[in-house]
Amino acid sequence: MILLLFLHLVCIRTANADFFDFDSISNVSTYYFNYFYCNIWEGECQPNQDDATQQVPSRDLWASFPQDYINLLHQWYCSLGQCCESGDCRITNNVTGLSRDLQSKLHGQHLAQSVVLKAIQGFINNPDSNKPLTLSFHGWSGTGKNFVARMIADNLYRDGVKSECVRLFIAPFHFPHARLVDTYKGQLREAIRDMVLRCPQTLFIFDEAEKLHPGLIDAIKPFMDHYDNVDGVSYRRAIFLFLSNIGGAAINDVALDFWHSGQNREDIGMEDLEHRLRAETIESEGGFAQSELMSGHLIDFYVPFLPLEYRHVKLCARDAFTARGLEADEDTLDEVAKAMLYVPKEERLFSAQGCKSIPQRINFFLP
Ligand SMILES: *[C@@H]1O[C@H](CO)[C@@H](O)[C@H](O)[C@H]1NC(C)=O
Ligand SMILES: *[C@@H]1O[C@H](CO)[C@@H](O)[C@H](O)[C@H]1NC(C)=O
Repeated sequence: MILLLFLHLVCIRTANADFFDFDSISNVSTYYFNYFYCNIWEGECQPNQDDATQQVPSRDLWASFPQDYINLLHQWYCSLGQCCESGDCRITNNVTGLSRDLQSKLHGQHLAQSVVLKAIQGFINNPDSNKPLTLSFHGWSGTGKNFVARMIADNLYRDGVKSECVRLFIAPFHFPHARLVDTYKGQLREAIRDMVLRCPQTLFIFDEAEKLHPGLIDAIKPFMDHYDNVDGVSYRRAIFLFLSNIGGAAINDVALDFWHSGQNREDIGMEDLEHRLRAETIESEGGFAQSELMSGHLIDFYVPFLPLEYRHVKLCARDAFTARGLEADEDTLDEVAKAMLYVPKEERLFSAQGCKSIPQRINFFLP
């Protein structure tokens, strides 16, 4: 068992490194080795990374391993089907799949489609990026923020949201009490550090980020900054997603203005939104909006989610039927879409709940 684990590590690291460049093997593997070591000899490790490093003579151990042996072991282990192109079997980084999902499953979000793809693709193709990727999704509920987060997880990780490389935090659920914020700070920092040690390319999703306490954001801010490492751990391959409704009203106003002036919704550009988004963010209260994360240029991309119209809801309904192996006719799709509430009062243009709960709603229309 231990041997297998060991070989797995050899495999992961060698597949990533310049093939058997010895320095880099011993170099990158140092912290994996610590992690491995800590797990087998539990209790022997100090929480502090530096202490752990001192205890493990990893560099010497690796260096004393003849290159040919590692080569052979690597080949043998990979022949068992345990190796992957990316080196780490948990990571799939399927940009093609992500692009396809964004195009075919996400409705009415031309901006999110292009910005998310550009951001993820750029990050994956640039392993030397000097900071983790941070994306902030904005928009009403039901417009697809969670949906896209799940798409990213599904295409970047073999096990999707269940992957040990993906972690979801729901602000009001995981950090409900303001008075416990100091406890949460420590827990959150530790959780993030732990995850990144296990899986450098970890995806952290913060849902309902508008409800995050400002203190919590300050506590994790260093992880998102341009640091080589924080206490010996590098966070530069991590991905942080913040999902919030901040700026939702501004986004809706812009979409409504476009509609009033007879312009195409698909012609809404980032430049039409940025100004108003920023203005609303500054006005709004709450930790995330006011945090230095927003003002300190640590967010790499703001991703606006537009309010959904009747026709988009119909597309969601069609997808929901398809997912159950059914094909619904236009009349049924219309019925599902009509059952939603549309706002504002006069125009009745946008679905108040977006496409939320459509998969549950179609139960009423099943044969
Ligand atoms: C890893 O390698 C880089 C350059 O190759 C070097 O600067 C750095 O000190 C090494 N790190 C360790 C822990 O040996
Ligand atoms: C990427 O995703 C596409 C679409 O889901 C799929 O057809 C393809 O096999 C995937 N590629 C890899 C390498 O997993």
